[in-house]
Amino acid sequence: MSDTAEQKARGKWDNIYRSKDDATKPLACEVLIEYQHLLPSTGSVLDVACGLGGNSLFLAELGLEVTAIDISAVAIDHIEAYQQSNISTLCASIDESVLKEKHFDVIVVSRFLDRTICSSLINALHNGGLLFYQTFTQEKVNPEVGPGNSEYLLASNELLFLFLGLKVLAFTDQGRVGTHAKGFRNQSWLVAQKE
Ligand SMILES: C[S@@+](CC[C@H](N)C(=O)[O-])C[C@H]1O[C@@H](n2cnc3c(N)ncnc32)[C@H](O)[C@@H]1O
Repeated sequence: MSDTAEQKARGKWDNIYRSKDDATKPLACEVLIEYQHLLPSTGSVLDVACGLGGNSLFLAELGLEVTAIDISAVAIDHIEAYQQSNISTLCASIDESVLKEKHFDVIVVSRFLDRTICSSLINALHNGGLLFYQTFTQEKVNPEVGPGNSEYLLASNELLFLFLGLKVLAFTDQGRVGTHAKGFRNQSWLVAQKE
């Protein structure tokens, strides 16, 4: 990411988080809640683009050692205010250099898409490590939900291609099929293991 693009993204997300006047504890994403039984009881986790820290707090409370990374200093300050000793934070733009030579038992990414880092995420998993990924799709049933720019939206089945080589444990991408009011819509999820 260029310095200008990075500054723009940081400014945008800092403003969004500053304007949120919500003291409620953020929730973990659906794929983590649904498949929490697959998590190890100990180990290291990377929460990519962690936002206000719903995933990090959930995983830290389960006893895992979490590294939470986000480009927004406002989001990182928010997480640090919880003073959870097993969460360490990093305010940075996620890229190959940040991931280099680091390894985790679990990586979680929710509602964030940067296709350029997918192979680095795979490299950053220990053998046996798990990836939990969920984000918005081009086949959203509610167009107002999530980003409008298709650069940030998954094409049909795209998570399977982005993380080809990992063993798929769970995947959903329900698109616009059937009764739109039912099912997990607007996003796709993947849980996969590095063998
Ligand atoms: C829609 S929010 C999702 C936050 C959280 N993962 C969740 O599901 O609630 C997207 C997050 O990506 C972060 N972000 C955007 N670009 C980033 C980058 N290049 N590196 C790290 N974080 C980034 C934003 O600051 C924001 O917190």
